Amino acid sequence: MKKDRLFLVKLGGSLITDKTKPYTPRIDVIRRLLGEIKEAISMERRLILGHGGGSFPHVSASKYHTYRGFVNEKSLYGMTVVHRDASRLNSIIIEELLEIDVPALPIQPSSITIAEDSRIIEMYIEPIKLLLGHNILPVVYGDVALDLEKGCCILSTEEIFRFLSIKLKEEYDPYIVMCEVVDGIYSKDPIKYPDAEFIPRVTRDNYLEVKEYLSSSHGIDVTGGMLHKVEVLFELAKEGISSIILNGLIQNNLKSFLEGKHVKGTIIQY
Ligand code: ATP
Ligand code: IPE
Repeated sequence: MKKDRLFLVKLGGSLITDKTKPYTPRIDVIRRLLGEIKEAISMERRLILGHGGGSFPHVSASKYHTYRGFVNEKSLYGMTVVHRDASRLNSIIIEELLEIDVPALPIQPSSITIAEDSRIIEMYIEPIKLLLGHNILPVVYGDVALDLEKGCCILSTEEIFRFLSIKLKEEYDPYIVMCEVVDGIYSKDPIKYPDAEFIPRVTRDNYLEVKEYLSSSHGIDVTGGMLHKVEVLFELAKEGISSIILNGLIQNNLKSFLEGKHVKGTIIQY
């Protein structure tokens, strides 16, 4: 029997916050994208929403070196601050969803997850399955987690999507949609180099070459930047789960993709 398509949509941290100013949401961008998501839901698209942290948790995460674990006497406090910062942005997203009458429930990743060296090994996802059945939008986000190896770690939205899509693929046909501030993957950072070449597809034929392009980029942050995204997405592609990286700054790009129209973006497929 054909399974229902399930979109796991991430709104990147650089897209929904101003990364140059701590704790600054880009509220106009957030409202427009949530409006597009609402339209897709009204067309019976089934979704899990995820979002990055951008300028909310990235400053505290760097200050306390949270991605390295419990490394000094400030680490325990630091981890809780990073969580607080991430959940502040999440509250804004939830508030905006409720404002436009989309029933949405936040799922706090740090309270349902155990990780090992930044990879999720356990996550209690039964509530997410039930929410999907009730057509309530589950909203996850990049967060901290307890880590059996390092004490704590940072969980990227991509890592959460990796775990969720593998677990949910028995029941659904997952497809990952990453909304960014660029059109997809390029031969070098397109924001710094206007002559960068666009790469429409990442497959087993060019994966290693693309990884080279991304390793040399300067855009690496506490969760590994574009390289981490492509590594996780390629791992999923091997499991039969495809994804697209597209530009969320272009009006109706996300909506059009969810409606099944062709949009510019990098598709990652095995
Ligand atoms: P964050 O909040 O961490 O920025 P994000 O999900 O919005 O989260 P990044 O981790 O910053 O995204 O990664 C996306 C960025 O990577 C793009 O905005 C782009 O400037 C940069 N980048 C670097 N090299 C490349 C490349 N070769 N192709 C595409 N983007 C690249
Ligand atoms: C990072 O999450 C969250 C924290 C630093 C706690 P993501 O990796 O999903 O977020 P962005 O898109 O890089 O901000």
